[in-house]
Amino acid sequence: MIVTSRAFAKLNLSLDIVSRMDNGYHNLKMVMQTINLCDEITIECLSGGSGFSVVAGLPFLPHDERNITVKAAKIFFEHTGISGFHTKIHVVKNIPVCAGMGGGSADAASVLRMLNELFETDLDSDTLRSLGLLVGSDVPFCINGGTALAEGRGEILTDLPPLPLAHFVVCKPHFSCSTPQLFSLVHCEKIRARPDTSGLIVALKSGDLGGVARRMYNVFEDILPRGKSDVDEIKGVLLDLGALGAVMTGSGPTVFGVFDKENSAHNAYEHLKPEYKDTFLAHNT
Ligand code: C5P
Repeated sequence: MIVTSRAFAKLNLSLDIVSRMDNGYHNLKMVMQTINLCDEITIECLSGGSGFSVVAGLPFLPHDERNITVKAAKIFFEHTGISGFHTKIHVVKNIPVCAGMGGGSADAASVLRMLNELFETDLDSDTLRSLGLLVGSDVPFCINGGTALAEGRGEILTDLPPLPLAHFVVCKPHFSCSTPQLFSLVHCEKIRARPDTSGLIVALKSGDLGGVARRMYNVFEDILPRGKSDVDEIKGVLLDLGALGAVMTGSGPTVFGVFDKENSAHNAYEHLKPEYKDTFLAHNT
């Protein structure tokens, strides 16, 4: 039994940290958007065996049970009680890792969806999302994707009207951010500026791409301990070259600009690519 699927990256059109929970996680309010940049996952389940093997392309990604795709597969098999298979997972990584683009979460969500399909287990979206939350906070969103408001840890999801067609230029600075480290620097009471999430949602409802782009904001940008100048510089280039708005996604450090004109997006891409190899042109799906 073998199946192949694509795992789409996400961008945060906004990210607000509302409060700290007693369990150490944070209450978030984020508008999330799936884009067409994707990893490709192939799963093969061989009957009569057990355990997992992973080929993940990048040498620094774990190839054992620490790999996020294996965590997702283990949770699926534990939940369904299915056993007696060796599971081979092959990941072609196109989404930059540790970038704030939900690459690992998208891969985990795809594995849950694909195993559900392979074994015809008919788990509904809510169940897949609950299983996904056991893997990571962004996995529930990645199960269905689209345009959504994510609250709580990220698992309380409200579908939003789709973003009008946008051209994204996505650019990862040269440094990486540790999500837990960045969260540990957050003092909710000291956050000085927050996104206008309800204004952003009103703009989405009226199909106003410029209104959405102007309201994009990520509170993590004020918390970045280092590399902030890179982020600001990339944002400046994107805005100078015609982006309607530019912001960092997730816990960073990737920055993206929203363009309504494809040729302006292409021009910004050409400008940034020589300096930043992880620069991509993308659009919403
Ligand atoms: O859930 P996930 O494993 O993706 O989270 C990684 C880390 O990010 C957590 O260990 C936690 O430190 C932080 N986090 C948080 N609040 C959230 C999501 C993540 O504090 N809502």
